[in-house]
Amino acid sequence: MDERISTGIPGLDAVLNGGLIGGRVYLLKGGPGVGKTTLGMHFAMAGVAKGESVLYVTLEELAANIRADFGRMGFPVNDPRFNLIDATPTVEKYVLMKDPFETFAEGLEALRNAVVERYREVRYSRIVIDPITMLKLPAASELDYRREFLAFMKSMARLRITVLMTSELEGADVEEYLADGVVEMLTFESHGRLMRGIRVKKLRGSSFDPAIHPYEITDRGIVVYHDRLLTDH
Ligand SMILES: Nc1ncnc2c1ncn2[C@@H]1O[C@H](COP(=O)(O)OP(=O)(O)OP(=O)(O)O)[C@@H](O)[C@H]1O
Ligand SMILES: [Mg+2]
Repeated sequence: MDERISTGIPGLDAVLNGGLIGGRVYLLKGGPGVGKTTLGMHFAMAGVAKGESVLYVTLEELAANIRADFGRMGFPVNDPRFNLIDATPTVEKYVLMKDPFETFAEGLEALRNAVVERYREVRYSRIVIDPITMLKLPAASELDYRREFLAFMKSMARLRITVLMTSELEGADVEEYLADGVVEMLTFESHGRLMRGIRVKKLRGSSFDPAIHPYEITDRGIVVYHDRLLTDH
């Protein structure tokens, strides 16, 4: 069996029949507030726990807020192996200039180049891009974006880096086709209650459990109930 990469959430690894396949690019889709950033944090920290260097590129939420919120949840946000890059457009240019990843917000191609260039120095095993939307916008056309995306996948495969990209529920069709796997986080209303469900939509190279499983966001992060279906309550 191929090496499986833990998502950091045992229940989700079970739904994925053991975890993600390494060196590939995955898309995590979901509406506002469903827990995409939290899941990205679990994935990143599972690498840190194994002694790996990981890169977390935040493009919409300020890094300071991420550190504060997820530090409170018990994630080791100050571990030197956890490289959090703030590429939000609100960050002052001079701050970005100090950072070798200043070009991050310029698009997927710039991100790829930055990671490849620095690989000798920092061997990231995992990268989270949260969300991919901001790196898609600079592409001149959809064709250009597809090319950039495929080149990115190729480089990541070569360097054996596993990538998780988050995106909104709507408008990530290109990524859904191109990515090696797609996970969706959904919300439903049932008898006035909000129900959260997660499902794997696609996982190239592997079978998976296609059911929608309930999950919760707790003060320690996300728990996925792989042995329950969303309808059981
Ligand atoms: N301690 C906690 N207990 C329960 N729920 C929590 C806790 N902390 C945060 N949450 C919930 O987690 C959700 C936010 O998670 P997260 O930021 O990961 O979502 P997101 O999908 O990334 O959101 P966005 O679309 O804004 O990027 C909120 O709905 C919040 O209520
Ligand atoms: Mg988020």
